[in-house]
Amino acid sequence: MVNLGEAPLFGRLTRRGRLMAKRTCDRRGHAFTVGRFLFRTPTAWEYAAAVASGSDPAAQRWLGWLADSVIAEPLRSEALRVTPGTGPAWTYPDPQSVDIVAIDLADNRCAGLVSVHSGENGGPETGGYLAPAYRGRGLGRDLFTAGLVLAHSHLGLPQVRAGAEVGNVASGRSLEAAGMRRAAGPPQYTLPNGRVSEAWWYQHDVPRPYRCSGPQAEWLSV
Ligand SMILES: CC(C)(COP(=O)(O)OP(=O)(O)OC[C@H]1O[C@@H](n2cnc3c(N)ncnc32)[C@H](O)[C@@H]1OP(=O)(O)O)[C@@H](O)C(=O)NCCC(=O)NCCS
Repeated sequence: MVNLGEAPLFGRLTRRGRLMAKRTCDRRGHAFTVGRFLFRTPTAWEYAAAVASGSDPAAQRWLGWLADSVIAEPLRSEALRVTPGTGPAWTYPDPQSVDIVAIDLADNRCAGLVSVHSGENGGPETGGYLAPAYRGRGLGRDLFTAGLVLAHSHLGLPQVRAGAEVGNVASGRSLEAAGMRRAAGPPQYTLPNGRVSEAWWYQHDVPRPYRCSGPQAEWLSV
């Protein structure tokens, strides 16, 4: 998921003013607000901060990434301190996922990541995570609302699904708070590290989706 190579210089300032003022989509990326967060196509450093947001053991209990995708300390703490708007442009290596970072405008921090990607059945799925400091505050609702906004109002997708591990109550309740409803699906899914988990499935449909002027995901359809 992430290979930061020799990139610990997370404080480097580039294009910050222009990026932080950006609130609409263009051919380089998506940008929109939900609640206290600006959701935006990340720079490389913002993406590192987002990956760090899900790299702690409590999140990995549910996310199950491959070991070389997880950012370990002390780099994790450094990445979590990235100033939004810094870092070079970033091209996500997986072409079958649209990833956007949650930027906390009040605290000027990267707070998590939400994506729309090709899911278990080849159709679009959303999923994401918050940095430790942002969990347990009801903000998962805004995170997953942003996943629905990205799918329906930016990528033109009439339907999006999400899976949560049975027992991940915070995730399930946040998906429902965002408006998703329980749906049928395979009883299990496999995490990137190979762990098989029992699954709750969720779905959200809209009659008239919309495509913005941001990068599109031609590979996604329902
Ligand atoms: C999943 C995640 C985005 C949820 O967002 P959150 O804002 O932290 O969610 P909250 O802790 O506010 O919990 C949401 C609701 O579930 C309830 N809840 C959470 N854990 C609970 C538990 N163990 N038992 C009962 N209720 C629980 C909360 O009280 C809250 O209830 P409310 O809707 O009545 O306010 C976030 O916790 C996260 O990033 N976790 C780590 C990674 C992860 O699990 N990602 C999802 C993978 S599918």
